[in-house]
Amino acid sequence: MTSTPVFEVRNVSFAYDNSQAALEHVDLTVRSGESLVILGANGSGKSTLLKLLDGLYFPTEGEIAAFGEPLTESNLRDDAFNFAFRRRVGLVFQDSDVQLFCPSVMDEVAFAPLQLGLSHDEVGQRVDEALQALRIEKLRDRAPHRLSGGEKRRVALASLLSLNPDVWLLDEPTIGLDPRSLAWLVDFILQLRQQNKTVITATHDLAFAQKFATGIHVFDENHRLAASGKPGEILADHELLHRCNLSHFHVTHEASICH
Ligand SMILES: Nc1ncnc2c1ncn2[C@@H]1O[C@H](COP(=O)(O)OP(=O)(O)OP(=O)(O)O)[C@@H](O)[C@H]1O
Ligand SMILES: [Mg+2]
Repeated sequence: MTSTPVFEVRNVSFAYDNSQAALEHVDLTVRSGESLVILGANGSGKSTLLKLLDGLYFPTEGEIAAFGEPLTESNLRDDAFNFAFRRRVGLVFQDSDVQLFCPSVMDEVAFAPLQLGLSHDEVGQRVDEALQALRIEKLRDRAPHRLSGGEKRRVALASLLSLNPDVWLLDEPTIGLDPRSLAWLVDFILQLRQQNKTVITATHDLAFAQKFATGIHVFDENHRLAASGKPGEILADHELLHRCNLSHFHVTHEASICH
């Protein structure tokens, strides 16, 4: 028995201001519990795809369904649909400054559970757990915009953890992370996988992708999906990686990386 896909993307194109192409005829299906990686060079369309999957933009052409329902502007205007969708899907933006808007880290992490209408005690518990999981208890009373890049990224992840969505959209989550935080992030994504969460990560870091991906989609520089497959086959396809301007990263069997 196959379950309803989390996302079905059918022949989706998107152009900013109806002129700047960002996605061209993209087809893909995301199933529950997958840890998918979206690979592509700068400007290939990774962030745009995640924003479409988060219902922030809508296709210029083609269709997206989320949990079997059309993900359209009019459906998202319906309060019940919007609430259910926002509860199940969360996006960590490539630029944390776009995401963090509250006066303190605590307010930031409490925002989603408050929106869910949880009790004061439950909100407090979720905030404590998320701060602990991300090891940022000490940042609790700090202003998010005054944090370092890596600290901001942890706060952004904590604010998603306090929502605890089924689907995690992570846009370049490695940016600003030191090696220890990077190792921690891989563990964190693997834990999400164990909890059967669906994770879609945009990155151009092949070694990072190799550590947790169950499947990989590769965009070329014409904003088209150049290939989809298992990490082993995609990362071994040097011609593909070269064509998509990703080949200056070489992935070894030990998952180390060299330029
Ligand atoms: N707000 C915008 N207005 C106009 N064009 C945009 C906008 N955001 C992105 N684009 C264009 O859309 C295309 C896809 O951009 P996108 O940000 O999705 O790429 P990306 O793969 O995430 O790149 P990166 O690796 O640099 O984050 C690019 O050509 C980009 O210049
Ligand atoms: Mg991007």
